[in-house]
Amino acid sequence: MNEDITDVIEEVLISEDEIKSRIAEMAEEIGRDYHGKDLCVLSVLSGSFIFAADMVRALKIPVKVSFIFASSYGAGTESSGKVDIIKGKGFDPKGLDILILEDIVDTGRTLTAIKKLLLEEGAKSVEICTFLDKPERRVVDLHPKYVGFVIPNKFVAGYGLDYEYRYRQFPFVGILKPEMYEQRGSCVEEGN
Ligand code: XMP
Ligand code: MG
Repeated sequence: MNEDITDVIEEVLISEDEIKSRIAEMAEEIGRDYHGKDLCVLSVLSGSFIFAADMVRALKIPVKVSFIFASSYGAGTESSGKVDIIKGKGFDPKGLDILILEDIVDTGRTLTAIKKLLLEEGAKSVEICTFLDKPERRVVDLHPKYVGFVIPNKFVAGYGLDYEYRYRQFPFVGILKPEMYEQRGSCVEEGN
């Protein structure tokens, strides 16, 4: 299928320049808060891969970088409560100060499950840094320490976020035209 960006995006919600300057601000704040600590940033795949790549390069403190893969099952744009978590080989949370890097917090279920697992496995501290936050959609009590942008309850794509594995490559965050996902509401395994 040959789609042009203008065919799928209703509106650019956050531009490339806005993303760049917000990441620099967040990196400053994180650098101050974790100064002198042995910080491990944990990128939640797949959605945070671009955010994490930009964030670690903006950080001026030394960090360890690890990855975790989370998938939730849902129909189309809705996630269910079931979350599958796969840790990178050799990653042991025990005794670490962990900062989770996530693309978006929606209902909050994915990060609640990840945080619980890391604490159960002995992490010293676990905080959340999310690129986007949709607080209107929260169903659990979860408050990320660092939030890039608070966004309205619209399905967005770009800058790592996908709809059915597509559109992650956009350098901005856009609101998808509803017809892009309303017609294709089939039950899919959603890689976060
Ligand atoms: P929650 O917080 O509901 O988030 O466990 C689960 C996952 O849902 C995805 N998600 C989105 N993905 N555009 C996307 O591309 C969106 O607007 C959106 N809202 C939620 C995301 O993968 C998140 O990790
Ligand atoms: Mg996704």
